[in-house]
Amino acid sequence: MEQTFVMVKPDGVRRGLIGPIIARFEQKGFTLAAIELLRIDRLLAEQHYSDLRTKPFFGELVDYLTSGPVCAMVWQGEHAVENARALIGKTNPVEASTGTIRGDFAMDIAGNIVHGSDSAASAAREIGLFFGKQPVSSHPLDL
Ligand code: CMP
Repeated sequence: MEQTFVMVKPDGVRRGLIGPIIARFEQKGFTLAAIELLRIDRLLAEQHYSDLRTKPFFGELVDYLTSGPVCAMVWQGEHAVENARALIGKTNPVEASTGTIRGDFAMDIAGNIVHGSDSAASAAREIGLFFGKQPVSSHPLDL
């Protein structure tokens, strides 16, 4: 069973969208494996987006990620990475289809309210960054 990392970003938390976003993942058939509401520091934001550090918007992205609490989650299910990306929609909300999370809840690319891992390798890296060695259950309903 595959796992993926999903994070409701500060504007999603501020706007009260944690619940609606969790509902969409549950309705789709995902199982929640881990969740934490936290404030991330600049180092963690920079590590999380390390592949974007040469982009002109990198500083703005780190400012945004550290501007308030985020909700970090691990969701699991068949083809979790690809299914989560389909549910979340395209990076730029202008291009995201209605019915996707970004298509329904966001307006611009800098504030696209939610992040989802773009590959299985990214998911493993991001889950490790946010949840460390803390065990992420593969059978959360048995907790
Ligand atoms: P996310 O899916 O979290 O992955 C990288 C993030 O970089 C992306 O969502 C956007 O929030 C952000 N991003 C990508 N392109 C731009 C851009 N042109 N301007 C500002 N932010 C961007």
